Amino acid sequence: MELIRIPRIMLETSKQHLSKGKTIGLVPTMGALHEGHLSLIKRAKSENDIVAVSIFVNPIQFGQNEDLDKYPRDTEGDMEKLKSEGVDILFMPEVKTIYPARFSTYITVKDLSDRLCGAFRPGHFSGVATVVCKLFNIVMPTRAYFGQKDFQQTAVIKRTAEDLNMNVEIVVCPTMRESDGLAMSSRNAYLSHGERKAASVIYKALKTSSELIKAGNVNTADIQKHMHDMLKAEPLISETQYAGVYDADALDEINEFKKQNLIAIAVKIGSTRLIDNMLVEF
Ligand code: PAJ
Repeated sequence: MELIRIPRIMLETSKQHLSKGKTIGLVPTMGALHEGHLSLIKRAKSENDIVAVSIFVNPIQFGQNEDLDKYPRDTEGDMEKLKSEGVDILFMPEVKTIYPARFSTYITVKDLSDRLCGAFRPGHFSGVATVVCKLFNIVMPTRAYFGQKDFQQTAVIKRTAEDLNMNVEIVVCPTMRESDGLAMSSRNAYLSHGERKAASVIYKALKTSSELIKAGNVNTADIQKHMHDMLKAEPLISETQYAGVYDADALDEINEFKKQNLIAIAVKIGSTRLIDNMLVEF
């Protein structure tokens, strides 16, 4: 595995591969890799000649009171995992090369960025869209892989890629879960034993909601109430930021089920913020 830290060298390396007709699959991450990340890498391996993984804890997508400083980091463990997955290139730039002193260009994706998580994390999706655009320009991937776990992120990135004519195929991969259904996340490491057990209520609320919807005889308000009731019944949930039924494209709340419906939840357990979602299709 080649470790590249300098954007210019990454770009030159990609150009060489592309000039030989090779395809490049990019998996952008912030490290602290788990099976969710590895599933994206496996998919990228199966569809491309060269797989590049980026590890970059992107400061501009963290709010002032968020966990940038304590975000989990495990470079050595990550490198072992990437080597055993057969990753070709690890791109791990420093903050100062991605955001030099005079950096001043930010991408804003209207509407989509303000909904769901965006309402609680102002500026977050601008930070994500900006860094992903930079990574695309540096790595020049043929395809880039993202997890459905961060559904709104995939919507924002797809919109950015389309609006700005980016020459990359965006591939969305299924959410990997622990045995009790909890979506894998680097942030699960923050949970105490009791909080970790409590966190499975998020998946249970989504799963039972999707079953109720598929069985018919419910409306969106019933589902929203069902989710809120289940989350309220778990004392370790300190805040429910949202729980409901949303249009899978526009991400706004809907009053009637459509062909593609997104059910999504964001809660805090102690000070740890957790999100999850499911698509329910008719
Ligand atoms: P990070 O949280 O490290 O996630 C990297 C990728 O892994 C994202 O596409 C995310 O959706 C995916 N992922 C996380 N948990 C997953 C799971 N349980 N199953 C499947 N995929 C999962 O998301 C980011 O980093 C950043 O915002 C980034 C896109 C790298 C931009 O900084």
